[in-house]
Amino acid sequence: MKRTVLLNPGPVNVTERVRQALLKPDLCHREKEFTDLMQSIRSKLVRAFGIQNDYDAVLTTGSGTAALEMAVSSCLSEGRSILVIRNGVYGERISAMAEAYRLNTLCLDTPWGEPPVLDDVEQALKQNPDIEVVALVHHETTTGLLNPVHEIGELVRKHKRRFLVDSISGLAGDPLDFDRAGVDFCVGTANKCLQGFPGVSFVLVRKTELPRLAKIPERSHYFNLYKNHQAQEKGDTLFTPAVQIHYALDVALDELIEETVTDRIHRYSRAAAMLRKGFQEMGLEFIVPEEHRSNTLTALKLPKGATYPGLHDRLKGKGFVIYAGQKKLSESIFRIANMGDVTTEEFQRLLDTLKNCISASTLS
Ligand SMILES: Cc1ncc(COP(=O)(O)O)c(C=O)c1O
Repeated sequence: MKRTVLLNPGPVNVTERVRQALLKPDLCHREKEFTDLMQSIRSKLVRAFGIQNDYDAVLTTGSGTAALEMAVSSCLSEGRSILVIRNGVYGERISAMAEAYRLNTLCLDTPWGEPPVLDDVEQALKQNPDIEVVALVHHETTTGLLNPVHEIGELVRKHKRRFLVDSISGLAGDPLDFDRAGVDFCVGTANKCLQGFPGVSFVLVRKTELPRLAKIPERSHYFNLYKNHQAQEKGDTLFTPAVQIHYALDVALDELIEETVTDRIHRYSRAAAMLRKGFQEMGLEFIVPEEHRSNTLTALKLPKGATYPGLHDRLKGKGFVIYAGQKKLSESIFRIANMGDVTTEEFQRLLDTLKNCISASTLS
């Protein structure tokens, strides 16, 4: 039987080797074997991205939002402000999270699907000396827009602020030069371009930030970045982790290191190029201009006469899961991601099937 191909932006199709890792022996997280597993993951994460000298990985059980909440709730000194740059659902989620923690929150908005204006970012930094942390979504999954993370990071560093990047759907899918972007906190998850399962997420924190974090009063008991870091450095966890998901992530990281981050990014980029050529030939309309598109997600207008549920169900019947637009885009677009262990043959089959579905839905 053909498997279901996941074209949603995570959870993704994983390799058989990663799936089999779930079946390793039952394990107590207070035993040495779990400590070894956790330290192996923490070390592979920073090595995979070539940042082992300057960053530590701090893991948490939970989806990407868990690690994001750990970073956002722990990163801001008392009396200072966070600037959230927003152009989609996930930027808006960061500001909602910051407000839930009663952080002084400033927002800089551009319309969904449009990159931020660098001059506006610089003006905001000049006019608001209280801003300590700037938060940006690397790849805004709402539309498939790749934000100018390096250019904004350079401005943040020039003005001596800290930079928090939500790279939950960006890491290992699109390039992120930690040095050039001056990233202080980078949030990622196991189940997107890292090709693991949902249930573990992480913050890659610049080591020199840790003494500052130690002085910030605890805002969340579960998601305190500093305390989780301290425990993990000692080989311990504060709470019960999703053990089996860690087994699978460890193997997924072996695969990432074998493939290399650079080659994975190229693989995704080639897949996106092939899909987009096909979408264009079908006359589908893109939401984001070519120069701002990520390597891993394409947002397309629903063709005339087609509804999302109709298109989704037709494709699902043929073994492909696509993704709806969010909020104000839910009626007008659909999204196709190309993350995970998907073959060129499967992408070609998707294009052929989509072409048939579109002619059928515009006729019906
Ligand atoms: C950029 C970005 N941030 C945050 C999230 C939330 O991640 P999760 O659903 O794993 O909590 C997502 C999920 O797609 C995302 O794409």
